[in-house]
Amino acid sequence: MPLLVLLLLLFTPPFSLSTPPLPSVDVDLLEFALNLEYLEAEFFLWGALGYGLDRIAGNLSAGGPPPIGVRKANLDPFVRDIVTQFGYQEVGHLKAIKQRVKGFPRPLLDLSAKNFATVVDNAFGEALKPPFDPYANGLNYLLASYIIPYVGLTGYVGANPNLQSSVAKRLVAGLLSVESAQDAVIRTLLYEQLDKKVHPYNISVAEFTDKISILRNKLGGAGIKDEGLVVPPELGAEGKISGNVIAGDENSIAYARTPEEILRIVYGTGNASKPGGFFPNGGDGRIARSYLGKEEY
Ligand SMILES: *[C@@H]1O[C@H](CO)[C@@H](O)[C@H](O)[C@H]1NC(C)=O
Ligand SMILES: *[C@@H]1O[C@H](CO)[C@@H](O)[C@H](O)[C@H]1NC(C)=O
Ligand SMILES: *[C@@H]1O[C@H](CO)[C@@H](O)[C@H](O)[C@H]1NC(C)=O
Repeated sequence: MPLLVLLLLLFTPPFSLSTPPLPSVDVDLLEFALNLEYLEAEFFLWGALGYGLDRIAGNLSAGGPPPIGVRKANLDPFVRDIVTQFGYQEVGHLKAIKQRVKGFPRPLLDLSAKNFATVVDNAFGEALKPPFDPYANGLNYLLASYIIPYVGLTGYVGANPNLQSSVAKRLVAGLLSVESAQDAVIRTLLYEQLDKKVHPYNISVAEFTDKISILRNKLGGAGIKDEGLVVPPELGAEGKISGNVIAGDENSIAYARTPEEILRIVYGTGNASKPGGFFPNGGDGRIARSYLGKEEY
């Protein structure tokens, strides 16, 4: 017995030098997440710094086309500092995912003011005049940011129970945690300005977030998985409070979305087979491609 233990110890390396390949379901789910991480990285880096992945880590964009219409936002130093941190966090996320899966080049992203204005017009069911400009000032940029990391967050919650390997679970828990923290920071900064009117519209910050969340619920087509900053008390924590700085279900557990629901939202079409919105040519990776009829065999 002691001899056997000794032999085992001798022939078991102290740490493994190469990690085994991930199960294909894990690869697919991690690659799906890359789509959203690319979107967030470019939006935050450009918004804060006026340049994006091609300048910061060109290997991560891997030759994908440059994003449409993205630009530096007119931010005060406080918000710019926070958004710069978010941008670099997304670079880390892309690196961490690409260390585990092959991935794909950055998909074509539409981060133009026009695309955000379309989302906002759809949320209000009418064209705002002048059109909403995400890059005009810090408040508008935070409202535009409200549109983005939350979708990734619900996707990670949805992916988690389907992951098989502990390596992918560990990675997704870490990604989820930071995305969720970003969402909480954005929501808190907006919560401080709840009643403020979003210039030049006669619309409050609270109403903006409410309408955007309602739109996402509608596009997702799977009931309530999104909540604004002020909700009817039935939707607040324990059904007792209308302040809603963090979204969650009846037990304040984060909502989960499937990849299909996420595609319906980020395409803005309510249809995972019909690209548009932030992804004019659709997402990449096996899952997104399967809805586009582009499966590889
Ligand atoms: C890409 O480049 C960055 C910095 O330039 C580096 O830290 C990272 O490891 C590289 N990633 C890959 C996947 O090569
Ligand atoms: C702004 O909206 C409020 C209701 O939200 C309304 O009472 C008020 O009359 C509106 N003001 C203008 C100038 O339209
Ligand atoms: C979704 O879009 C595809 C491609 O445009 C179309 O064939 C399909 O009918 C649409 N589905 C629904 C439910 O509208």
